[in-house]
Order: sequence, then structure tokens, then C-alpha cells
Amino acid sequence: MMRYQDPALPVAERVDDLLARMSLDEKIGQMTQAERLESDEADVTAYRLGSVLSGGGSVPEPNAPKTWADMYDGLQRAALRTPLGIPILYGVDAVHGHGNVVGATVFPHNIGLGATRDPGLVREIGAAVAREVTGTGITWNFAPCLGVVRNPRWGRTYESFGELSELPVVMTSYIAGLQGPRVGPPPSVMATAKHYIGDGGTDDGDDQGDTRLSEAELRVLHLPPFLAALRLGVGSIMISLSAWNGVKVHGHRYLITDVLKNELGFTGIVVSDWNGLDEIFGRDEFTGEEVRAAINAGIDMVMVPERWRQFIDVLREEVKAGRVPMSRIDDANRRILTKKFEQGLFEHPLTDRSYLELIGSDEHRALARRAVAASQVVLKNEAGLLPLAPGARRIFVAGRAADDIGMQCGGWTISWQGSPGAITDGTTILEGVRAAAGPDATVVHDAGGAGIDSSFDVAIAVVGEEPYAEDEGDLPGDMGLEACDLETIARLREAGVPVVVVLVSGRPLDIAAELPGWDAFVAAWLPGTEGDGVADVLFGAVPASGRLPVTWMRSTDQLPINDGDGQVPLFPYGYGLSLDSGES
Ligand code: BGC
Ligand code: BGC
Repeated sequence: MMRYQDPALPVAERVDDLLARMSLDEKIGQMTQAERLESDEADVTAYRLGSVLSGGGSVPEPNAPKTWADMYDGLQRAALRTPLGIPILYGVDAVHGHGNVVGATVFPHNIGLGATRDPGLVREIGAAVAREVTGTGITWNFAPCLGVVRNPRWGRTYESFGELSELPVVMTSYIAGLQGPRVGPPPSVMATAKHYIGDGGTDDGDDQGDTRLSEAELRVLHLPPFLAALRLGVGSIMISLSAWNGVKVHGHRYLITDVLKNELGFTGIVVSDWNGLDEIFGRDEFTGEEVRAAINAGIDMVMVPERWRQFIDVLREEVKAGRVPMSRIDDANRRILTKKFEQGLFEHPLTDRSYLELIGSDEHRALARRAVAASQVVLKNEAGLLPLAPGARRIFVAGRAADDIGMQCGGWTISWQGSPGAITDGTTILEGVRAAAGPDATVVHDAGGAGIDSSFDVAIAVVGEEPYAEDEGDLPGDMGLEACDLETIARLREAGVPVVVVLVSGRPLDIAAELPGWDAFVAAWLPGTEGDGVADVLFGAVPASGRLPVTWMRSTDQLPINDGDGQVPLFPYGYGLSLDSGES
């Protein structure tokens, strides 16, 4: 047995021993992360790849937990076939549950978790997500997003816990849930604090845009969540695709090496984001200049989904020419290998299949349902319409999002962008309403509202945003409801029945003009697969307790609008009615 293979030795000694045995090609391989669709088992062996990822929607067929575990084990065995047998780190975006996997529990997106104001609950969710990810062998999660959203035009608003750093700071409990007390063997899954730094603060909420702030402002607003993550021993930090005052963070040596590594003492892995090297100097694809800038800035693991072969060649040239120092390559390798040893990957490289049955388990779904209920924010409740009483009443349910798992889940679910439809297992909001209303109630459903008449006691319109992810969700213009949603609500109102509007969305929308016509209004965010949690609040099984994690604008003219900026919003940060008293 070689010394690095001896689990009895301290990790640092094992790393030193292994590093001393590695060639330059092996070291460069460790720093390379390829997409699973662009690489296969033979590549993992031949190129000594250090990591493979599934991008959003990059799934094995058939998309089922066991297939994932088989895929993982196949790639891991390929890594073990290399001369030094260094296991890979497999990375995935389990950003609201193991969302790529059909049948996994999908929890509310972060904005909803921010509304719960409950870091303990979020820690439990992190631990449940870790167990589900562990069931597929995977040991690295690109979550949580700790971006502080300052403008709801941003297409990733729902990935943020809130607009003031205090919310992402407390919700770093997610990291404690995922990793446990430290990065360790399964079911500890290594967390990624992302996207360092300023992703939520770009001008106009432009995804991957420019965050124009002084250094003092950047530190006050966007750094605290990362400080909290460091205190919890977060294993990796992902660099933001955005720029700070015109300079792409991916090439920012001051922010990555001087601040994060030297000043703050981060010893984990700095990972680049998807093709993040490409645009450092505004070109379409990376050249030697970008690779040099990124590695010398302090990036350790490079997410080069497609052009990973080219990256390996270019980095080798840069090192041979002396433009990237060997000390930097060794530092990156130390960080990567340390996490692999800490995870016990050398001792237990393959999937522990005893966790497979936890994927989508009843316990996890019950936890998700609790989180959904806790995330509901009641914003209007005229004449005490809510909570609705179960029993012999006539309830009409309408709206595109009423009976649609895909709409409830939003982006990063089964596919990168997500999509409407029955894309995975779960309970729709309509199904939740039917169950909560009880056997004596009559629940009639039509998405467009056809069939509503004055015989109904109440109508519930579940409307909102179709799924999106990243820049595809940016809203530079109008932020109102879609015409079809407005028509549905109008049809319900014409029947003269009290109307409850439940908004399924990743952010506040421009609804001030319509609000006077709604009797009750609930922000449900993107609840995930357990729609019964929404019904729990509508019918009072769980008291409403959610509070706004973001300021709700009166009109888009106010954007950006944030707590403390002196503007008068429609609903302030922290607002939310408690149904018992009807007061915030
Ligand atoms: C996103 C990251 C994500 C990565 C891998 C990028 O486009 O910005 O948040 O982790 O893709 O899917
Ligand atoms: C991938 C995502 C990634 C995105 C970036 C998609 O094809 O599935 O994971 O974040 O590309 O552009």
C-alpha cells in the first residue's frame, strides 16, 4: 500500500504523498471538470479527469435513481482504473432537491425558503437533499446560491434567499444540512456557496451582468453570506459569471486570491462556472490568455463542459511556458485532493445503495410539505376570507398553475429551464385543495375558469410564471401577469364569487393595478412537488407565517426597490399576514 492509500494517516500527509507521485498531466486532469454528455468512461481514464458534472437536464436514460447510481459507479470505476486510482468528484445542481432526477423530492426554491425565516427547517432540508443525492452516489452539490437579489428583473431571483444579506446569511444553515459538521463521507454532500460575488447585484438585474459598487458596498451587501459559509466549512465556492465594475470575476485575482483565499482563509475548492473562462476578456471562447488569467486568479477546478480537451492542452502549454506557476497547479490539486480524502472517496468510491430508497421518500415529502406551508406569504385577506373552512362548500379552482407539477417546480427541475406538465411525481395544488376541503366539499376545476357561476362559495385562481432558469428568466420590460391569467381571474370575478389569487412565481410581479379586485392574495413562490403545503395554509391546517424575503414593488418604475431605500412599496420586506389576527 502506498502512503496516500492509508486511511490511518492524516489527510495532509496523504495529499503530499499523492501529489509527489503525480505528473503534470495528472495534475491538470484533476483540475478539469467535463460534462457527462461530452465525456465518457474512457475519457475519465485516459485524461485523468478530476471531475464530471451533470448540467441542468443532463440525465441518464431512463431517468430514474438507480440509473443515476449506475452511471456514477461506471464513471467512478473508470477513474479507479488510472495508475494512481484517484476518484472523481461528480457535481450536480441539486438546488431545490435532486431536481434532475425523476421521482426526487423537490423542495421550494430558495426565495420561498427565505420567506419561512426558519434556518432550522432549511438545515433539515439540506440534510434531506444530501441523503437523496447520496442515493445516486454523487458527492458534490452546486448549492446553495447565496446571491443577494437586489432587482426582481433578475432571472435567478428565485435562487436567492432574499434581498438583504441577513437572509442568505442565516440560510447558510443549508450548508450545515448538506455537509453536516464538515465535509465528510456520505451522506455528507459537499456544498458550494455560489456565485462569488455580486451575482444578485448587477445593473438592471441583468444575469451575468455588471455589479457596479464600491468595494465597501460590495463587502457590506454581498460578502456576508460567504463569510457565514466559510464559518460552516463550506467545501467549495463557485465564481460568478458576472463582472465587478466591468471586470469579470472569473479573472479577478484580487477577489479570488487576495480576498477569498488569503484574507478570509478559504482552503476549499474554487470552481469556475459553466464556460466561465470564455468571456473573461469578452471573446466567445477561451484562449491561453483566459486560461492563464483564471488559474492565476485562483480558480482550482475548471468547469469546461464541452471544450475540456482544449483546456487541458492550453493549460499544459501555459505551465510549460512558465506563464502559470507550478505552485498554483499544486495549490489547486491540494485543495481538490483534500476534499476527496475528506469525503472518504478513496475508501468508499462507489454508491451506497442503501440511500436509494430515500429518494422521494414519504419523510422527505412530508418535510417539503412543511416547508411549502411555512413559505406561503398571505398578502391580502379581505373580510377574513382565509382560511377557508373545510366542509360542505362549493369551491372552484382555476388557473394554469393549479394542476401542474412543472409550474410549481419552476426552473432546474428535470430540465435546465424546467417546463409545465407532469414532469415528475408529486401533489399538485389542486390535489392538495381537494384533500384539504374534505369529502363533503364540491371542488370543481377548470384551468381557464369555464363553468364558474354564482353558486360557488369561493374561487381560487392559481396563476403565475412559466418555468425558466438563468438569463432566460430576465425580465427587462413588463412584469405583469400574462393575459391568459388576467382573463381567468376576470372570469371568476364576473361570477360574483370571492376570489383568492395564489401566485406561483419566482419573484414579485407587477400586480398593484389588479389587487383591488382580489379578495385574498397569497404568494406561493415555487413550492416544488408538494402542493398540499399550499392547501395547508389556505385551509388553516397550518397557520400562515411566511414573511416577504424581498420588497414588493408598486410598479416597475420603482425598480430597483429595496428595504431602506425610502421608496414606498406595495408590500415591504418582511410583510405577511397572520391569518388568525389578520395583522402582520
Ligand atoms: C450556473 C450555475 C450552475 C452551472 C452548472 C451555470 O450556468 O450559473 O449555477 O451550477 O451552470 O449547471
Ligand atoms: C446546462 C446548464 C447550464 C447552462 C449554461 C445548460 O445547457 O444544462 O446546467 O447552466 O447550459 O448556459
